[in-house]
Amino acid sequence: MLAIALLFFGGAGVSAQTPEDVNQGKKLYLGHCSPCHGQTGTGGRGPNLAQPRLKHGASEEAIADVIKNGIAGTEMPGAWQLSDREAALMAAYVRSLGRVERVDLPGDAVAGRRVFERSGCGQCHIVNGEGVAMGPELTEIGVRRNAEYTREAIVHPGAAVPEGYLYVEIATAAGRTVSGQRVNEDSFTIQIRDSTGRYHSFRKQELKEVRKFSGRSAMPSYQGRLGEAELDNLVAYLASLRGEP
Ligand code: HEC
Ligand code: HEC
Repeated sequence: MLAIALLFFGGAGVSAQTPEDVNQGKKLYLGHCSPCHGQTGTGGRGPNLAQPRLKHGASEEAIADVIKNGIAGTEMPGAWQLSDREAALMAAYVRSLGRVERVDLPGDAVAGRRVFERSGCGQCHIVNGEGVAMGPELTEIGVRRNAEYTREAIVHPGAAVPEGYLYVEIATAAGRTVSGQRVNEDSFTIQIRDSTGRYHSFRKQELKEVRKFSGRSAMPSYQGRLGEAELDNLVAYLASLRGEP
């Protein structure tokens, strides 16, 4: 888990800020923002922030401004009680959620696309509007995640479940069961996203059981199912997906 987090930040290209700044920003983020934007920034009541382009976030300064002043007429509150430094640290963290620089990789992206198609990845992932939204959309995966990370996600899905991304099964007192990724949780409520991408929110007092599977992934491992060259090509293909036509 730790190794993955380091790889992720290592490739995130937050050159203007030290990793220590980003970590501090993350702590502040978890305290102030995760109830609405999710523990890993992937959204909930507020939008997904873990993407390379934000409508109101062209730069770190623009994001810091949104943090301090909110967005008028929306549920995004201003946090005037924060110092400029704190807002800047959080802005650095929010931006680190969404950027990986281009690098040269050994594989062939065009061949990798064919590996993607015949391996059934599209049964759970959307790329450029095609596929199924059971797992995260991959249209911009090359900007969001570095190559080490995506390789790990394919070979050991359990190990690459992003931090805070937890698979849970919930049984309500009324006899309903729902399973999916935990988006957020506090003392009284828990929110999850099911395999079809729908959000569910529960009050804990209505629940009979919450089972958590850390390190469990809904994605099958492709270890041994793909040769080394195929894997290199697939990783190169994913790195090439940068949300540009
Ligand atoms: C009460 C819920 C709530 C809290 C708390 C909250 N946000 Fe938001 N945030 C929202 C909503 C809702 C929006 C979308 C506003 C809109 O409709 O444009 C938003 C929008 C944003 C955007 C702009 C996204 C874009 O696509 O341009 C950023 C950046 C952002 N929030 C960061 C933060 C940060 C950082 C914090 C913590 C300091 C935070 N938010 C706290 C609800 C919240
Ligand atoms: C049965 C559904 C399923 C299939 C098939 C599947 N995935 Fe996944 N994938 C998921 C889910 C769900 C996640 C979310 C994290 C987790 O649970 O591991 C995920 C996560 C990922 C991630 C990490 C995304 C991120 O934002 O961190 C990558 C990369 C990925 N998958 C690539 C692939 C590739 C490439 C294939 C085909 C070789 C594939 N997946 C096949 C369900 C699937």
